[in-house]
Amino acid sequence: MKHEICKIADIPQTGSLVAPFFGREVHVWRSGDRIRAAANVCLHFGGPLDCKDGAFVCQWHGAKFDMDNGERLEGPAPKGSRLMFLSTRVEDGALNYVWGE
Ligand code: FES
Repeated sequence: MKHEICKIADIPQTGSLVAPFFGREVHVWRSGDRIRAAANVCLHFGGPLDCKDGAFVCQWHGAKFDMDNGERLEGPAPKGSRLMFLSTRVEDGALNYVWGE
């Protein structure tokens, strides 16, 4: 099954696009040749993340996450935690969340 997240053309070359996702939000961004999508949820207490200076930074207490692999870089989120990446597929000029395939 699939659910369209956004059009590929809408994803910026740098930074991220925040797209609605089943009543929540996901960040979508380009990482080299790949397009990635992760829940806009900090792994500390679930705060929203800003895309800032090449990393995701939580608005609430400042936890910082790597944009390539989602790993926590610093701050109060648990050591070794990673952002929640979505499984995706590009089809017909759109990025789709896919599941159950
Ligand atoms: S909720 Fe993100 S650092 Fe606390």
